[in-house]
Amino acid sequence: MRTGTALMRVEALTDTTLRVRIAPSGSLPENASWAVPAAVRAQSVAVVPTPDGFNTNALAVHVDPATLRLTVTDRTGRPIVADAPRPLTLDGAAFTLRKALRPDEHIFALGDKTGGSLDRRGRTFVNWNTDAYAFDSTTDPIYKAIPFFLGVDDAGRSYGLLFDNTWRSWFDFGHRDVDTLAMGSPGGPIDYYILAGPAVRDVVRGYTALTGHAPLPPLWAFGYQQSRYSYMSAAEVRDIAGKLASSGIPTDAMWLDIDFLDRNRPFTVNRQTYPDLKGLAGELGRQGIKLVTIADLHIASAPGEDYAPYDSGTAIDAFVHAADGKPFVGKVWPGPSVFPDFTDKRVRAWWGRNFRGYVDAGVAGFWNDMNEPSVFNDLHTMPVDAIHHIDADDFAPRSASHAELHNVYGMENTRATYEGMQALRPGERPFVMTRASYAGGQRYAVTWTGDNSSTWDHLRLAVNQMLNLGLSGFSYAGTDVGGYAGGASPALMTRWYQIAAFGPIFRAHAEKGSPRAEPWVDGPEHLAIRRRFVEERYRLLPYIYALADANTRNGDPLMRPVFYDYPEMIASPCKRGIDFTLGRSLLVAPAPKGESEQPYEICLPKGGWYDYWSGLPVTANPPPTGEAATLPGANLADRVTETPRIDRMPVFVRAGTILPRQAVVTSTARTPTGPLRLDVYPGADCSGMLYLDDGHTTAATRGRVLRQSIRCEQVPGGGLRILFNAREQGYRPWWRQIAVTVHGAAGAARVTRGRSPVASSFDAAARTVAFTLADAGLERPTTIALVTGGMQ
Ligand code: NOJ
Repeated sequence: MRTGTALMRVEALTDTTLRVRIAPSGSLPENASWAVPAAVRAQSVAVVPTPDGFNTNALAVHVDPATLRLTVTDRTGRPIVADAPRPLTLDGAAFTLRKALRPDEHIFALGDKTGGSLDRRGRTFVNWNTDAYAFDSTTDPIYKAIPFFLGVDDAGRSYGLLFDNTWRSWFDFGHRDVDTLAMGSPGGPIDYYILAGPAVRDVVRGYTALTGHAPLPPLWAFGYQQSRYSYMSAAEVRDIAGKLASSGIPTDAMWLDIDFLDRNRPFTVNRQTYPDLKGLAGELGRQGIKLVTIADLHIASAPGEDYAPYDSGTAIDAFVHAADGKPFVGKVWPGPSVFPDFTDKRVRAWWGRNFRGYVDAGVAGFWNDMNEPSVFNDLHTMPVDAIHHIDADDFAPRSASHAELHNVYGMENTRATYEGMQALRPGERPFVMTRASYAGGQRYAVTWTGDNSSTWDHLRLAVNQMLNLGLSGFSYAGTDVGGYAGGASPALMTRWYQIAAFGPIFRAHAEKGSPRAEPWVDGPEHLAIRRRFVEERYRLLPYIYALADANTRNGDPLMRPVFYDYPEMIASPCKRGIDFTLGRSLLVAPAPKGESEQPYEICLPKGGWYDYWSGLPVTANPPPTGEAATLPGANLADRVTETPRIDRMPVFVRAGTILPRQAVVTSTARTPTGPLRLDVYPGADCSGMLYLDDGHTTAATRGRVLRQSIRCEQVPGGGLRILFNAREQGYRPWWRQIAVTVHGAAGAARVTRGRSPVASSFDAAARTVAFTLADAGLERPTTIALVTGGMQ
């Protein structure tokens, strides 16, 4: 569509994904993107032209030829997203786009951005990756720029928009004008994608299909990880590893921060304090602990000092140039440093080769920090006129300013690390963690939320940041457990362990100079609680790993806002605290004001829940009387009241869940003993999933997996059927038996497997029926029948 000199091009990549490009001068910029891979951009579906646009199978696209005003509706005419009056204004290379913001529209995603609530409506945000030490809930911008948001209305209807512009772009979600959603940038293409829902889940799935799914991390990445800035020597690492073992804290990884390096120089080792890195990695390995080391991108500018990364990088002109044409030099941890030009594939390959020494020493994963990039100068980063080189994907090779590439610099850093690991350890699944990134960065790295503080506010913020990251494609996120800066009170630290045990990445980390923050530092009572939650995490690994497997294919985050699977909760007047779900089945409801001992109310979506800890069905409070009861949506949630206790965190299981668990192990490197446990919580749409692979190779992507779905059905008149569907069995399970516990039982049951009886026991206090199945044969479709006096 054209008006005057302007050209607007709307393409349907799928029936629900549109790409919109506008060229004010009439010619579109090159068709390239850091966020959306070329093969995805090349997709298209057949459309049916209409007088003012076109239809896909799901959408109607209308463009006003006079103003280029764009309106997208579904095929019944229901608006999904529509431009506001004056949809586009230009100011030189800068531009502003405006869309209508509906009165009941909520805004989510946008990566790690801060805020007092999950909803971002009413605020303005800038996208500029920034080292934000000790940020608070109002700081913006911080580490990541993920210019993707979701609009969700009170009915749970949703769309998403990826503003694929890498410059210092911004969003205004009804801040200046309550009815307008504005976004703009000082430069770069006008190029964005609309993802139609209708459900939030559809949008997130569409977004991850567009920008790429997070690859499955190695199994150890789901275990407990212990870090500190810094464990100063191998002796200290051994000591901490020993204390973790003697304190009974299952552990999968220990992290080495910059002090393990020689003069903070990347790709070195301090031989005084870490004389034998390989020996240390081996020793920890025998204890079931992997070693992760930091790999900052700033290379010490050290000509003539035999510092190989500098010399080899200089030899291939690997570093970003300043405007004067010489390599840009900025101060970071090693002192004067140079910065690899990661948007050049030659440089990425060179970067990857630098990891050989660490990989040979047995280091299992890498931590890309400081990659906004952080520079210790007034700008906190490189000047915008620094010159990078682009040679990547379907971009035409050219020079580009830091103003254009700043926001993708960290993501391309992680891409270089990820691909380097793939090249050095073919067939192994890489583990990379990053601080900065851009849309699509989940293809290469997991992330964490940077330098938070040891405050209750930060614990709340951490939950919201992880939820919004999960909606932004980053299903794997963590926060520094206990807070990076400040030192946590014993209660705050314990609460942080409790919450993080139910999150995707579980890593404790603390700043240099802060009080010691390992799990035992506050004495035996706190240690016992923290240990209980770490252990529970390990019991839940079969469930968590199955969620991770699903995520690689559908993009559903592991940790989700409650409305993800229960859209009616968006409009529920029952006030959300900092509750979230882990998958669809577990609802975690920590005290929203952890510092207070006042009782609080938990909102449970309708449908029935069980208490995770007792296994008993939950009895909700009587419905509220008065005004709240008459509000729309008042009947959508059940409420339970909880009085905070430091040794307890409420967790609920959705009625209709089959939850796989295992015995506690000291590390995922150990094989669990005993049976696989399956807890069955009868209810509507009852299902569960088993997933297993070797935990570390890419054979999983070639079918070397065990995958099996299980359903349960209530039989009218009492009784239950558990149906094992056919198992994909490319990988042999560690269990020989499955111990089943059916909850909510009113009495004993007669259990049969096919025609054969299975011995079972009834526990009246726990209201459970328990029995054990031999695994042999369960790979074939199998029905287990429970005939009872009555199940709830
Ligand atoms: C900044 C990171 O955010 C922090 O986690 C790390 O400990 C320090 N850099 C030192 O490497």
